[in-house]
Amino acid sequence: MKYLVTGGAGFIGGNFIHYMVNKYPEDMIVNLDKLTYAGNLETCKPVEGKPNYKFIKGDIADRPFIMDLFEKEKFDVVINFAAESHVDRSIEDPEIFVKTNVMGTTTLMDACVKYGIKRYHQVSTDEVYGDLPLDRPDLFFTEETPLHTSSPYSSAKASADLFVLAYHRTYGLPVTISRCSNNYGPYQFPEKLIPLMISRALADEPLPVYGDGANVRDWLHVYDHCVAIDLIVHDGREGEVYNVGGHNERNNLQVVKTILKTLDKPESLIHFVADRKGHDRRYAIDPKKLETELGWKPKYNFDTGMQQTIQWHLDHKEWWQHILSGEYQQYYEKMYTDKGRV
Ligand code: NAD
Ligand code: DAU
Repeated sequence: MKYLVTGGAGFIGGNFIHYMVNKYPEDMIVNLDKLTYAGNLETCKPVEGKPNYKFIKGDIADRPFIMDLFEKEKFDVVINFAAESHVDRSIEDPEIFVKTNVMGTTTLMDACVKYGIKRYHQVSTDEVYGDLPLDRPDLFFTEETPLHTSSPYSSAKASADLFVLAYHRTYGLPVTISRCSNNYGPYQFPEKLIPLMISRALADEPLPVYGDGANVRDWLHVYDHCVAIDLIVHDGREGEVYNVGGHNERNNLQVVKTILKTLDKPESLIHFVADRKGHDRRYAIDPKKLETELGWKPKYNFDTGMQQTIQWHLDHKEWWQHILSGEYQQYYEKMYTDKGRV
């Protein structure tokens, strides 16, 4: 089996590449990534040189390049992680979110229709459902919850989801979609809440909490997300959406205080700052369909996942310090431009 994994130099795609290359040594895993600011080849180092792994630099929205690639490589399965993923950036500059998240998705699917594949999987997000009120803890997102987006990021992701379902109905493309809650774990870019707060707390810098810090997210360790995608790609029903989440709701202040306590740092580092525009109040996933149909069960809860993640950041300071210092950009130039691999 030959898999195309897009966005594999990013956080979740990178973890998924590690998981797949090790779990399926007989299969070929091709990682296609544009290497935007969020793509980091240092994340792929643990699999570099393995015979069932190959990296290709490229843009999922570059139609001639994608058509050429599909003609040459003859992929069996495509799993699309590639996206602009940060809500705050989408508020500043929405256009690239439309280009990559929507047009990149349709470009990839056009190639799948033209060259034929066994499965196209779209990695989506719970943000397509909008948010839930804080005073209704009985409410959860199910796969039937209407799409009701808040940010340019979530609007682009929801738009892509609609195209994926349309390609299934119109062209018979064998698709699945997963909609996951907030991920955390190794190799997450330090612009997102948890790695940002860990790196700043370790440097005794102020931790910027938006608004009142009461916004709730449903935290899932990235390993459990990778297991879910593997299950859905292999055993999920075509044309179906699967929600992924492990009932680990915490508000942002609870998350930040957990980090400070674990690192033995004072709560005086917490600084309340202006709120995010259109800030979603609460996300909470009902994962019943994934659990009952495909037998998914998360390995981590919030406490064990956070311990693992904080320890990983302590053991891999060079990974996130290179990003903060810009050193990883030089790594690309050294490893790829000079050697003519891009
Ligand atoms: P990330 O920003 O860490 O990584 C995105 C990767 O995509 C980067 O390596 C980047 O270089 C690459 N990329 C961007 N534009 C590209 C393009 N045009 N062509 C090829 N590659 C391109 O993102 P992430 O947090 O790992 O998220 C991965 C996917 O999972 C996204 O689709 C996101 O919407 C979804 N998701 C994320 C979360 C989360 O909590 N992080 C939760 C649910 C779903
Ligand atoms: O729910 C899934 C989504 O989770 C994914 O689709 C997105 O790609 C991913 O980025 C994430 O979106 P969020 O906006 O929830 O994640 P972020 O880490 O940016 O913020 C988490 C919460 O923390 C949110 O309520 C905003 C708050 N926050 C964030 C940052 C970066 C702060 O209070 N301070 C900060 O500095």
